[in-house]
Amino acid sequence: MKIIDGKKISEVILEDLGRKVTEIKNSGDKIPHLAAVLVGNNPASETYVNAKVKACEKTGFQSTLKKTEGTIAESDLLGIVRELNDDQDIDGFIVQLPLPSHINEHRIIEAISPAKDVDGFHPVNQGKMVLNLPCLLPATPYGIMMLFENCGIDTSGKHCVVLGRSHIVGTPMSILMGRKTSPGNCTVTLCHSKTKNLEDFCRSADILIAAMGIPEFVTGSMVKEGAVVIDVGINRLPDPSKKSGYRLAGDVKFDEVAPKCSRITPVPGGVGPMTIAALLTNTMKAAGYKDIKI
Ligand code: GUN
Repeated sequence: MKIIDGKKISEVILEDLGRKVTEIKNSGDKIPHLAAVLVGNNPASETYVNAKVKACEKTGFQSTLKKTEGTIAESDLLGIVRELNDDQDIDGFIVQLPLPSHINEHRIIEAISPAKDVDGFHPVNQGKMVLNLPCLLPATPYGIMMLFENCGIDTSGKHCVVLGRSHIVGTPMSILMGRKTSPGNCTVTLCHSKTKNLEDFCRSADILIAAMGIPEFVTGSMVKEGAVVIDVGINRLPDPSKKSGYRLAGDVKFDEVAPKCSRITPVPGGVGPMTIAALLTNTMKAAGYKDIKI
């Protein structure tokens, strides 16, 4: 069994992006600029957004963080989105999800200019993704595709089972794995809360991607010998022995599953850092460097 070191792979990608930023700077061109909007004070969202800002600093990207109260009116948040759309200096931006329940997430996402939608959540980008047209891909699934590519994992003709059908991860992941691309060319099964015989599907997977947000859901008996397992879950479980009061757990019971796999991503240090590498790659593309190959 080999652990897929997403942290190390993401660091190499960020170094490549950093070199590209230096080239851009040296030629006197505008430095790519990513903005993030953080609504309220959800601790997990704060952590993710801070990690995104830190990655910008590390690679030399310009970054702007816009924080608002959780009570902000939807119309005011739409106003911030429009300002960012119109700001010529900003190449791409994200609105960190989830948003408070009084705000309609779809309305906010649809207001983002597709050209600046570095999360790849806008219907225009999602539609182009389905049609295999050039677009900004959702950052987490894109980061996982980068992992397959970087690790030389052959996905063609394999049975890929995706657990969870969220718009952010599960659904786009199932599309990308089924596309006529490399990585890709899988036979895909998308499982969800209403799937019957879910364990049987899991056991038939050559590649199992767990993205349902249920801590340690995938156990040893659900995984085929030699499978590749990608754990997208980042769950906080109470742990009084930790200074923070919690420990991070994936959607996979790592200790049971790892011995059966050919490859597995850990939590933390697997998919999480790749999401950031993919987000910055998208920002580079949104800044006009469309052919950037990482
Ligand atoms: N919340 C969880 N994952 C993501 C992500 O990739 N982008 C945004 N904007 N919010 C998220």
